[in-house]
Amino acid sequence: MRYRMGEMGESPKRPVIEVRTMEIDDLAPVFHLGEELFTAEEVPNLYRTWDEFEVVGLYTADTEYCLVAEAEQDGALVGFALGTTITKSGSAWKYGHLVWMGVDPAWQEHHVGTRLFNALRERYLEAGVRIMMVDTEADNLAAIRFFRKLGFGKPSEHLYMSLNLSNQRPGGRED
Ligand SMILES: CC(C)(COP(=O)(O)OP(=O)(O)OC[C@H]1O[C@@H](n2cnc3c(N)ncnc32)[C@H](O)[C@@H]1OP(=O)(O)O)[C@@H](O)C(=O)NCCC(=O)NCCS
Repeated sequence: MRYRMGEMGESPKRPVIEVRTMEIDDLAPVFHLGEELFTAEEVPNLYRTWDEFEVVGLYTADTEYCLVAEAEQDGALVGFALGTTITKSGSAWKYGHLVWMGVDPAWQEHHVGTRLFNALRERYLEAGVRIMMVDTEADNLAAIRFFRKLGFGKPSEHLYMSLNLSNQRPGGRED
């Protein structure tokens, strides 16, 4: 990993990366990095499942809020942030939802995530977003610390419950 000395307000050494808007050729690398990061065990809530439709859907609907970080050295994808905006009826407020965020494990804890987040926050500010939202698993301590460091607070609990229907089929069959 190559480093560049930090600029004003940044850490003294920062990896040499470029943060830019996601492009169509990034779809596959983003999807595969996400596959590495968001395993089924770690993301059991099916309301948000990492699959190719999720990536393509966010990219086509909200390209300007889909960012990638690439290593300047070889152009390899090292991280991504996929966001969207939400406007609720009856409310003048615009919300920015950072839906997925991931950094290549080899590049984690080198402020790549912070750079991606800062770039997305700039875009949200320009678009008039008043509140940013994120969500993560309660046991994802790295992500929770990451978001807290960036200023997120007021966590509110949301419980997901499940009911296994496999034994409740007509005749009790489990086929
Ligand atoms: C969460 C994630 C995106 C953070 O990206 P990152 O580039 O490693 O984070 P940064 O280097 O910018 O970290 C910024 C701050 O977050 C906190 N942090 C980041 N990783 C951490 C870890 N593994 N343990 C504890 N704190 C951590 C630290 O406070 C850090 O500040 P510091 O370096 O001054 O101590 C990355 O860990 C990741 O991809 N995780 C797997 C996917 C995921 O959980 N995504 C979030 C939910 S969608």
